[in-house]
Amino acid sequence: MAFLSTISVALLVFLFSVVINQAQSEHFFFEGFNESDDKSDLRLEGASIFKTSGALRLTNKTKNAIGHAFYSKTIQMFNKTSPNASSFNTYFVFSIVPPASGKGGFGLAFTIAPSYQIAGAKAGQYLGLFNELNDGKNSNHIFAVEFDTVRGYNETSNSYGNHVGININSMESNTSEPASYNINNTLKNEEIDMHKGDPIQAWLEYDGVSKVLNVTMCPMWQQKPMKPLLNFAVDLTPIVKEFMYVGFSAATGDTASSHYILGWSFSTAGSPSIESLWTSYTSGRERIIFFPILSDCSYRRFVRRDRSFVRDTALSRAL
Ligand SMILES: *[C@@H]1O[C@H](CO)[C@@H](O)[C@H](O)[C@H]1NC(C)=O
Ligand SMILES: *[C@@H]1O[C@H](CO)[C@@H](O)[C@H](O)[C@H]1NC(C)=O
Ligand SMILES: *[C@@H]1O[C@H](CO)[C@@H](O)[C@H](O)[C@H]1NC(C)=O
Ligand SMILES: *[C@@H]1O[C@H](CO)[C@@H](O)[C@H](O)[C@H]1NC(C)=O
Ligand SMILES: *[C@@H]1O[C@H](CO)[C@@H](O)[C@H](O)[C@H]1NC(C)=O
Ligand SMILES: *[C@@H]1O[C@H](CO)[C@@H](O)[C@H](O)[C@H]1NC(C)=O
Ligand SMILES: *[C@@H]1O[C@H](CO)[C@@H](O)[C@H](O)[C@H]1NC(C)=O
Ligand SMILES: *[C@@H]1O[C@H](CO)[C@@H](O)[C@H](O)[C@H]1NC(C)=O
Repeated sequence: MAFLSTISVALLVFLFSVVINQAQSEHFFFEGFNESDDKSDLRLEGASIFKTSGALRLTNKTKNAIGHAFYSKTIQMFNKTSPNASSFNTYFVFSIVPPASGKGGFGLAFTIAPSYQIAGAKAGQYLGLFNELNDGKNSNHIFAVEFDTVRGYNETSNSYGNHVGININSMESNTSEPASYNINNTLKNEEIDMHKGDPIQAWLEYDGVSKVLNVTMCPMWQQKPMKPLLNFAVDLTPIVKEFMYVGFSAATGDTASSHYILGWSFSTAGSPSIESLWTSYTSGRERIIFFPILSDCSYRRFVRRDRSFVRDTALSRAL
């Protein structure tokens, strides 16, 4: 076991980011971020930086800041065999650290956009995605899932301060729910306060044939809840273009938190999904998770051995 762990740690150190390219499908996996390894894989704009801790920081606590981080290659959202926008899965761990006193803001969003530079985007309530002139326009071709810690842009329709929403070409969410996760497949949800600095896991799964998007979240170190937080019927076919960038946008406003991404994987139809990657790890061995973890606003690397998640070293080697 100890030997295996040593190998795994070594592999993780060397295979810090893993990128597999196939003809049309795409799959990549960042178990943490390192400038020297990831510079060419990710395009950072605005306030975004790689921290030496291995975290990707989208914003610090400067007011009215915007940070973007997009995967540097485009994702092909259509192929010749299907008229439907591609299915995709993405899994990431994020952390939002509020200021030492007072309120933080505003939030971050997983984003699919036609460019890694979102021209004219505003900070604050616009989350670095839109501005007052283009908000709501179909010509944006922007799809986002927002993790917003401030009462929304439209109080009526976005009535939760600590919420998760699906946004299509607009800051007005098509649907939103208070940030929470389902407990053991019951009717009960447990709220997650997103601005406490704790690492939080999020899964987005889009099925391009049934045209449903699921958004699931829960605290780090917990198993993915069986029931998603958002289960939303949406056809991305008219929204996305053939080649799109995927990544994150975060913004601060009058109130400002630091927004971090600690790990990220993404795959489209035709490549192994995150779920199957994770489950292929469970072969009775240990999995070592190497996300950088917060401890009071400072970061440290963290190795966790957890029987419920297992990293298969053979798979690591194959990657
Ligand atoms: C980033 O990667 C380089 C080269 O692999 C390594 O020397 C450096 O220690 C890494 N930085 C961190 C913070 O792990
Ligand atoms: C945030 O980052 C910017 C540039 O990276 C820096 O100038 C500024 O002082 C930082 N602000 C805080 C509050 O750390
Ligand atoms: C495209 O989506 C429709 C449902 O909206 C489905 O009936 C059809 O089979 C899909 N086509 C392919 C090639 O997946
Ligand atoms: C083409 O797209 C469809 C629908 O998203 C998907 O099921 C299929 O695997 C894709 N084919 C290739 C070769 O990527
Ligand atoms: C806010 O949302 C409500 C309900 O969707 C809508 O009727 C109203 O016009 C919106 N207000 C603004 C300022 O966009
Ligand atoms: C939601 O989604 C559709 C696109 O499917 C869009 O046209 C609509 O205006 C969106 N906005 C809201 C607030 O429902
Ligand atoms: C959920 O189920 C697990 C295992 O059956 C149990 O240990 C845990 O206490 C349950 N959690 C809640 C909140 O009921
Ligand atoms: C979304 O969640 C529902 C309910 O749990 C599930 O039946 C469906 O397969 C999920 N779809 C995707 C694309 O994960």
